[in-house]
Amino acid sequence: MAKYRIGLGVTGGIAAYKAVEVLRLLQKADCDVSVAMTRHATEFVQPLTFRALTDKHVIVDDYDPENPDPIAHINFSQEIDLLLIVPATANIIGKFANGVADDFLSSTYLATTAKVMVAPAMNTTMWEQPATQRNVAQLKADGVYFVEPVAGELACKTVGTGKLEDVENIVKQALALLETGDRRQETGDVSGSLAPVSDLSKENFLITVGGTREAIDPVRFISNHSSGKMGFAVAEAAAARGAKVTVVAGVTTVEPPANVNVIRAVSAEDMHAAVKAEIAHATVFVGAAAVADYAPANAADAKIKKDGRDVLTLELKKTPDILSEVSKNRHTGMLVVGFAAETNDVVGYARTKMEKKGLDLVVANDITKAGAGFNTDTNIATILTRAGGEIELPLMSKREMADRILDEILLLRKN
Ligand code: CTP
Repeated sequence: MAKYRIGLGVTGGIAAYKAVEVLRLLQKADCDVSVAMTRHATEFVQPLTFRALTDKHVIVDDYDPENPDPIAHINFSQEIDLLLIVPATANIIGKFANGVADDFLSSTYLATTAKVMVAPAMNTTMWEQPATQRNVAQLKADGVYFVEPVAGELACKTVGTGKLEDVENIVKQALALLETGDRRQETGDVSGSLAPVSDLSKENFLITVGGTREAIDPVRFISNHSSGKMGFAVAEAAAARGAKVTVVAGVTTVEPPANVNVIRAVSAEDMHAAVKAEIAHATVFVGAAAVADYAPANAADAKIKKDGRDVLTLELKKTPDILSEVSKNRHTGMLVVGFAAETNDVVGYARTKMEKKGLDLVVANDITKAGAGFNTDTNIATILTRAGGEIELPLMSKREMADRILDEILLLRKN
């Protein structure tokens, strides 16, 4: 007998052909798969392809005279352990979210008590539309699992979020859901996204995030372009995987995730003090902040006047290197992770930084590349490990990259 029975719903998008590979991988994992397609999906892939691979009738329309089962949406929906939609268009997400049941697949969704997992794929603008995001949020609140779309080059030749997740990852997440049950009941996470089960529940993360502001006088400061997006993504992902997370956040342009403890710090000095106060509890320290390396040596108490000067010279002094300090004074078993934003010889400089600061892992990125660096939702990076490993991370969302970084941290823990 097959391990799991899966209803694979295919909807009408370019990525529909990838559902064939998902089917094959599920079958290899000993799953019995039945396929339902929307009418539009059949414009992209012939039902015959799925019929040949499953040896079963592929249901598109309940009322089709060739359909062997007159109440197929009831029978189909009640004979499965998981309804998996690959790819999911904005249209099917909208129908599921609003209880519209005007074809076989949407009726099946309403009729099923099985778990439902949705892997969206669409153009970035469609994905980011408030209407789509509202529907996604509604479905997550209804208990539907999402395999979030990733960033990359889309069929419409634009680069952005909306690409179907790798088929291997979709299958992995579907099987993990079936094997481990509802992760959200364990972690209290109701976001609907599925990450590996609480694999960081033994860790306490302390993460610096965002940029610092170094006062010149009461109205002016030196700062940088950091948004805090990458650091917050790591914080959110670690918490979603069961870790206790404290973030020391400098200046950020985005809101912190809801599932972490946030301490605000404006200057490098403040950040250093906050980290020192918290570090005793940490098992993993991640320095994701863009800490100013230098601050005005003597910040003026009153606003500096021009006083007819053409040139004004500011004297700067070195700020404490928080990451180096943490690394030097670390307690046994603590892992220390740094970031390196470079414009040239990225890996070379990052490796030097790793050695100089005594780090276990460095996430290095070339901030000159499109889609990487400050204030973007995506990143491109190389993870360097102390043992000499180099893991290339191509263009992906910062949230997705956060999980990849955490996977490497977990590997260090196991070695
Ligand atoms: N960092 C820190 N405290 C500082 C400066 C940097 O904790 N005062 C951390 C950052 O959070 C990041 C890493 O160190 O994890 C970046 O290293 P850094 O040496 O500051 O990078 P650069 O400023 O780019 O170094 P350099 O000027 O030598 O290129």
